[in-house]
Amino acid sequence: MIDVEGLSKSCGERTLWRDVSLTVGPGEMLALVGPSGSGKSTLLNCLGLLDRPNAGVIRHEGKDITRFGRREARLFRRDVLGYLFQGYALIENATVEENLEVAVKPRRALRDQAGPSVAEALQRVGLAGRHKETVHRLSGGEQQRVALARLLVQQPRLVLADEPTAALDRDNTGMVLDSLREMSRAGCAVVIATHDDTVRDACDNVFAVGAPLVSK
Ligand SMILES: Nc1ncnc2c1ncn2[C@@H]1O[C@H](COP(=O)(O)OP(=O)(O)OP(=O)(O)O)[C@@H](O)[C@H]1O
Ligand SMILES: [Mg+2]
Repeated sequence: MIDVEGLSKSCGERTLWRDVSLTVGPGEMLALVGPSGSGKSTLLNCLGLLDRPNAGVIRHEGKDITRFGRREARLFRRDVLGYLFQGYALIENATVEENLEVAVKPRRALRDQAGPSVAEALQRVGLAGRHKETVHRLSGGEQQRVALARLLVQQPRLVLADEPTAALDRDNTGMVLDSLREMSRAGCAVVIATHDDTVRDACDNVFAVGAPLVSK
């Protein structure tokens, strides 16, 4: 479903990665690994239209998303993508519940899908009954789990996760991985940048940024 071909990215004089080709199908989980600074987050950002590659194509269902205009990009973000970025994209001054609802409504109306309710998703991530709390009062790991709960409600077709377990203990790492696997079983493609061996081992394929694809 996501098909990357010949992708390259430079920052000034420096080439981050060159000629990256990979495919992530529905139901598949891909780990992006590599040393700090190798460009994992940058690659995720290119997949999520937050950054642009210097060369190559990224196809989603046959269309090169790097050539999307503003409207197509907006619809792609709204209807296809789900983000799980550390400390990213939560509304700090709003409650847990409000953070879940803003992301949910347009999509629900559009596709009329029966995903889990806000309450069910919060229960799933171990935050049952916490929906009235303000996000900025939560710990880093709790905020991360709010973002995960939002994904569960959204049911995106492509999830991009940047070090989704960095602030979490072992139990919560397992919970995040189980939830992502559940989404992938439902047909979602999942790409995770990580330094965590537990996360890498839970994925179907591993792409070492700057080196060839390793199949498990
Ligand atoms: N828009 C940009 N302009 C200039 N330099 C950039 C830009 N985006 C990223 N970089 C540089 O590219 C390099 C790769 O950054 P990136 O965040 O993708 O690495 P990473 O593999 O995710 O690292 P980490 O494991 O530490 O998160 C860094 O040296 C960063 O400073
Ligand atoms: Mg990074």
